[in-house]
Amino acid sequence: MQTARARAPGKIILFGEHAVVHHQPAIAVPLAAVQARAEAVPDDFGSGLTVHAPDVNCVLRVTGDLDQSDPLYNALVYPLELALSALNAPVPDLTITIRSSIPIASGLGSGAALATALVRALALALCRPLSNDALNALIYEVEKRHHSNPSGIDNTVIVYERPVYFVRDAPPTSFIIAAPFTLVVGDTGVNSPTHLAVTDVGRLFETEPERITPIFTRIGAIASQARAAIETGSPAALGPLMNENHALLRELTVSSPELDDLCAAALRAGALGAKLSGGGRGGNMIALVAPEQAPAITGALLEAGATAAFATTVG
Ligand code: MEV
Repeated sequence: MQTARARAPGKIILFGEHAVVHHQPAIAVPLAAVQARAEAVPDDFGSGLTVHAPDVNCVLRVTGDLDQSDPLYNALVYPLELALSALNAPVPDLTITIRSSIPIASGLGSGAALATALVRALALALCRPLSNDALNALIYEVEKRHHSNPSGIDNTVIVYERPVYFVRDAPPTSFIIAAPFTLVVGDTGVNSPTHLAVTDVGRLFETEPERITPIFTRIGAIASQARAAIETGSPAALGPLMNENHALLRELTVSSPELDDLCAAALRAGALGAKLSGGGRGGNMIALVAPEQAPAITGALLEAGATAAFATTVG
């Protein structure tokens, strides 16, 4: 065994969240500005596997500390148990410290990134590094525990760290970003577990399939149009597509007054388009901006009540 360090980025869903659960295409990019980082250090003989998460002030032993309904079990212990079983390895004497700058339950992929960093560090410490394909399959199993019906887009974009055009149950494809573009990310500060929104959208679809199916189909078409605009170096075309995607997500009931307010504030300040990103009902929104406008729009979001806002370049 050896000391090992691993990390995983956050993610931004550019287009297609929720509809992607129902087999429409979506596109997402890794977000390196926020990261989960894990460090695995060999421990005394017989000490077992311990996870230390100073951000949430907790120390957990991988065998038996927590009951399996505890969210910390799903987030920090289950990924490691699954990895040990996939590697057919006994519980090692190791302490893994995990830190993350990705806000929890806010649409930026915290759960998948924590699990990815933890499992990568464990596998490296055991000198049994996992391929991205094997890791992705494993983190998808973790995602299923976080929320019952994940599409798989979060784990895919985070594990491969590439822009991804994703259709559920099909091999993911990456795409070229022909011309970089700037996004401002704004946090409502409202935590919103993805699984609740996904479950509600599923119920809405079951009760009103005639109304909801065309919404899903249009969101999928927007994601495909957006990919074409990105690949042909026309990112300005993304603005109207973002606004339309946000309006459709509102119809799916996954926006919130805070998200709508931040999107409106970004547009008033000159953004080319804005939408919620991720599970919605809270969490983060994104706005497409000209690079020179980024400071002003970041300021406008903070003034409108965002608890955090920052600019990031995609591509
Ligand atoms: C969450 O980041 C994206 C959703 O579409 C859920 C999923 O695809 O699993 C809301």
